[in-house]
Amino acid sequence: MNAESKTVLITGGDGYLGSSLAASYLESTDASLILWLRAGGAEEFENKKSALQRRFAGHASRLSYAAGDLLDDEPFRALDPRGIGGIIHAAAVTRFNVDETTARAVNLEGACKLFRFATGCPSLEAFGLLSTVYASGLAPGAIAEAPLDDGHGFSNFYEWSKWASEAALLKHFGDLPWRIFRVATIIADDERGTVRQQNAFHNTLKLLYYGLLSVMPGLPETPLYLLSGEFVSRAIFALMRRPSNRVIYHVCHKREEALPLRDLVDIAFEVFSQSEDFRLRRILKPLYADLGSFELLADGVEKFSGAVVSQAVASVAPFARQLFIDKDLKNTNLTAALGRYPDPELRRLAAETCRRLVESRWKPHGHDAR
Ligand SMILES: NC(=O)c1ccc[n+]([C@@H]2O[C@H](COP(=O)([O-])OP(=O)(O)OC[C@H]3O[C@@H](n4cnc5c(N)ncnc54)[C@H](OP(=O)(O)O)[C@@H]3O)[C@@H](O)[C@H]2O)c1
Repeated sequence: MNAESKTVLITGGDGYLGSSLAASYLESTDASLILWLRAGGAEEFENKKSALQRRFAGHASRLSYAAGDLLDDEPFRALDPRGIGGIIHAAAVTRFNVDETTARAVNLEGACKLFRFATGCPSLEAFGLLSTVYASGLAPGAIAEAPLDDGHGFSNFYEWSKWASEAALLKHFGDLPWRIFRVATIIADDERGTVRQQNAFHNTLKLLYYGLLSVMPGLPETPLYLLSGEFVSRAIFALMRRPSNRVIYHVCHKREEALPLRDLVDIAFEVFSQSEDFRLRRILKPLYADLGSFELLADGVEKFSGAVVSQAVASVAPFARQLFIDKDLKNTNLTAALGRYPDPELRRLAAETCRRLVESRWKPHGHDAR
């Protein structure tokens, strides 16, 4: 898309990927941006806006802000559709333990409100829907960059809602200049292992470090598709600016480049062992458990453990079923569009991420405007 001359609207403009993509546009184009933020009232909007203004100081003349909530009836009513050349939908509830009602209302129905708004943007050249490789749910084997069905079910309502938003886009708004980005798991901002946003991945490592996860759900050989946020933002930024529409991209590496679960656990223990604090606790690597045994343990933890542990386990448990599924994610469209991407170096990324997590004891890095 020739975004240089038109305005790009980014929903979830203060979220992890929304704000990273805003930074890419500000640094590498002359485009104006509208950052659309979730805010319950004027004070929350002002606070979010101020944080972004600090982060993007120097670009004030190209930035404007709008507030809303995907739960509102018409969340984009205040926006002028004329002049919008690109839209990136990065707003979503991203917790794996989100309940069905919220997932449906925000991630499916909220996305449809934006699709509808987009149909009224006369100059729209590109609409990017941020999705996840787990929109493929529990499907094993080869997963192409093509529409998905829901035949294998899902691990959680987050996955289901991301699948459902893709399906709604393709079925009811197929004429939009859409592109779908199915992103794999971001574990760090960059190859130095800086972590601004934590998720189930980091919570699992935390449980392992403190010896609170003696059994690991999953099969040791399950491939993990791990990425840095930098890789993802660069890829989506480049793909948004290509002329071709109606393409699905898997923003991830190939299966042979992915890291087996066993290797991640080995790398984590190797890094953890460099800390005396960890060595003194003589913590053993977890045993691999079947899903039933893990669910029993998670259930016990919820009933009998303190808030910190049960919250961490609650964020891991809704994802556990994926650790038994061997997905062979294809990234043909991604590689054809980007050419050769940098070598994944996933072992180093995983090791550096573990090292930074231990150093910070899981305190997120510089959590200002996310
Ligand atoms: N990061 C990853 O590893 C990853 C991997 C695969 C796919 N993705 C996809 O990428 C997209 C962006 O993810 P992210 O990591 O940037 O997530 P994030 O940091 O959690 O950002 C999500 C954004 O959505 C906003 N939001 C939540 N509920 C909303 C509502 N009701 N109305 C309006 N806005 C709402 C959040 O605002 P508040 O914070 O104020 O609620 C936040 O700005 C999502 O679609 C996600 O599924 C991310």
